Amino acid sequence: MSKELIRLSDCVMAYDDDVVLDRIDLSIQDKEFLTLLGPSGCGKTTTLRIIGGFLTPTSGDVLFDGKRINDVPPHKRMVNTVFQRYALFPHLNVFENVAFGLRMGQTVVEQENGQEVRRKVKIPEEEIHSRVMEMLEIVNLKGFERRPVTALSGGQQQRVAIARALVNRPKVLLLDEPLGALDMRLRKDMQQELKRIQQEMEITFIYVTHDQEEALAMSDTVVVMDGGRIQQVGSPEDIYNEPKNAFVADFIGESNIIDGIMRADGVVEIFNRRFQCLDKGFDRDEPVDVVIRPEDVDIVSEAEGQLKGTVTAVTFKGVHYDTIVDFYGFKWLIQTTDFCPVGSHIGIKIDPDGIHVMKKSQYSGMFGDYSSYSEEYDEINDPTLLDEEEEGAGDEE
Ligand SMILES: Nc1ncnc2c1ncn2[C@@H]1O[C@H](COP(=O)(O)OP(=O)(O)OP(=O)(O)O)[C@@H](O)[C@H]1O
Ligand SMILES: [Mg+2]
Repeated sequence: MSKELIRLSDCVMAYDDDVVLDRIDLSIQDKEFLTLLGPSGCGKTTTLRIIGGFLTPTSGDVLFDGKRINDVPPHKRMVNTVFQRYALFPHLNVFENVAFGLRMGQTVVEQENGQEVRRKVKIPEEEIHSRVMEMLEIVNLKGFERRPVTALSGGQQQRVAIARALVNRPKVLLLDEPLGALDMRLRKDMQQELKRIQQEMEITFIYVTHDQEEALAMSDTVVVMDGGRIQQVGSPEDIYNEPKNAFVADFIGESNIIDGIMRADGVVEIFNRRFQCLDKGFDRDEPVDVVIRPEDVDIVSEAEGQLKGTVTAVTFKGVHYDTIVDFYGFKWLIQTTDFCPVGSHIGIKIDPDGIHVMKKSQYSGMFGDYSSYSEEYDEINDPTLLDEEEEGAGDEE
């Protein structure tokens, strides 16, 4: 049974008239790995700072173990933070960087005449030594104790920062895009490492990223945010398989999102053709958004197809081909191991479980058409655009 550790209740953060968090409700369970995921500016760092105590919400409550902690300062919360630009002390070696917090002493809470009194107590040198060595073992840096931190790789420095944040055994670790500065390969390795550390130490991790793959790979729970609002909370599988609206469907993985009409339970109409699906409970003839993932479409002969279309672009992706197919002026992305050259006329088939029906929302019509796919692809490969985005992502401190 999971136990609630932190709750945000109806939290609003406003700067003058600018509402950047709009009535956030969120329950975080003890020992879970929860990820805040969303585009730049959606409010991830703001949410994290509220949990850490660096920001007080304009209205609403922050609860820890059922107690309201709105006014409790950061150092009195059992929470530590790893920022994207983790500042290690360059003049100290690995051991001393990790030991730093312990040398500041440990806070003990005692009862004196019915009053809570907090005292800083010095930690004995042997205990500091054993706790630092234990942490270095957990982050796989045993043998690096005497190494200057300036002589470490980016990934090793990141692990020192994590060891330093964990050494005084917080209940919760907040991580704000901690892998943003690392290259792809190292990032993947560190994702596994972080997950292992979190499970081994049984600490609640609240992790911020705008990388959906990272969120799906690491989390027990993913919180998808946009425009200061929570769009969906769920397991990675739920979020991917059952997106709540077109924003979530588009942000998590690739999605073709098509206008449809629900004709009956289990029957949805797109492009005037009826498809079997598993979705139920909509009104008869209710307009809906239909999500079809690129990997759920089978390419067949034109004669056998439920829909017929023309291939307009093909990109080899190693495992599969990204194939863009024009259906009646609407372009779909299909991922297939079958090579279909540009110009070929094909048919497609979709199994009932490959179709996901969603309610119409404010995001309807904004996403899920791949007409501009090749332009988007050029943008992804344009290094100047990427630089700008990364600078924007790391400006929290
Ligand atoms: N001190 C402030 N005054 C006014 N607006 C602010 C302030 N701090 C943050 N904001 C605004 O709040 C919104 C949310 O910011 P936040 O830093 O939480 O975004 P984020 O999701 O972490 O984005 P990123 O991925 O770029 O780090 C942004 O529009 C930002 O401009
Ligand atoms: Mg941020």
